[in-house]
Amino acid sequence: MSRIAYVNGRYSAHSRASVHIDDRAHTFADGVYEVILVVNRHMIDLEDHFRRLDRSLCELDIPRPMTGRVLTHIMNRTIHLNRVVDGIVYLQISRGAAPRNHVFDNASLTPGVVCTARRLDVPATSRDVSGVEVITLPDTRWTRVDIKSVSLLPNVLARTRAAGRGAYEAWLVDGEGFVTECAASNAWIVDSSGRLVTRPVADGILRGITRERLMTLARELSIEVVERPFSVAEAKQAREAFLTSTTSLVKAVSRIDETVVGNGHPGHVTCRLLDAYLDFARHQAGFPDGHSRVVLG
Ligand SMILES: Cc1ncc(COP(=O)(O)O)c(C=O)c1O
Repeated sequence: MSRIAYVNGRYSAHSRASVHIDDRAHTFADGVYEVILVVNRHMIDLEDHFRRLDRSLCELDIPRPMTGRVLTHIMNRTIHLNRVVDGIVYLQISRGAAPRNHVFDNASLTPGVVCTARRLDVPATSRDVSGVEVITLPDTRWTRVDIKSVSLLPNVLARTRAAGRGAYEAWLVDGEGFVTECAASNAWIVDSSGRLVTRPVADGILRGITRERLMTLARELSIEVVERPFSVAEAKQAREAFLTSTTSLVKAVSRIDETVVGNGHPGHVTCRLLDAYLDFARHQAGFPDGHSRVVLG
């Protein structure tokens, strides 16, 4: 089945879908995006994604091109046209196309909207997943990583370096040796008292939607969450480590650089949190007991 993409008012074959060469997302990375989890054809935590999208647009002074209702319609239609049952939907909004000039004039620009969707395997339970290896690298990104902009070159280079070393992700490290987040996810550890530790959002990280959801779920499970920076050395000695994102969900980290974390297998707390997240997502997607096996389309 060929994939379908939405670009500026049109649904067309993904392979032929195109934007103007003067689109500022292309020339200046002048755009923002969201990636939303789809379970059972249902977008998870959509309101939270819209809230973050609005904030990103506002911080960059890009006008919102259409209402949430219209964007929701476009995303649902893209999910439907691509026959995605479990997967992700990608939404990108650029400032628009104009002759290349650093200075922008919103009055003469129409924001560009791109939407794609693809399938993704969502595990049934934590028993179906194993841990991943990560490497640590200096965080060389700009200071506005709180904005979900398409300006991702340092993240791209970091993740590609990780892949080149056989690792799944790169954990990014600030000048003082503290982990900020990962190239495409948020970083967490479980300390010796069983508390979750993750860096505060005000401090050089993206406010991950999965991160926010997991905090709520952790509190419901009476797991204490501490928002503070942690060092690479502390992470290597942690009881457990994991990362969170829309595409990775909750992923156990079994090795950081050359150091095995815990016993090298997904830890108890990480598995509980992944199961709680899967239950939550299925419940929001309309499975009443939250436990039904998600059937892949
Ligand atoms: C740098 C970075 N941090 C964190 C995240 C996790 O965010 P979310 O949970 O909303 O996917 C992402 C996701 O793309 C990311 O790119």
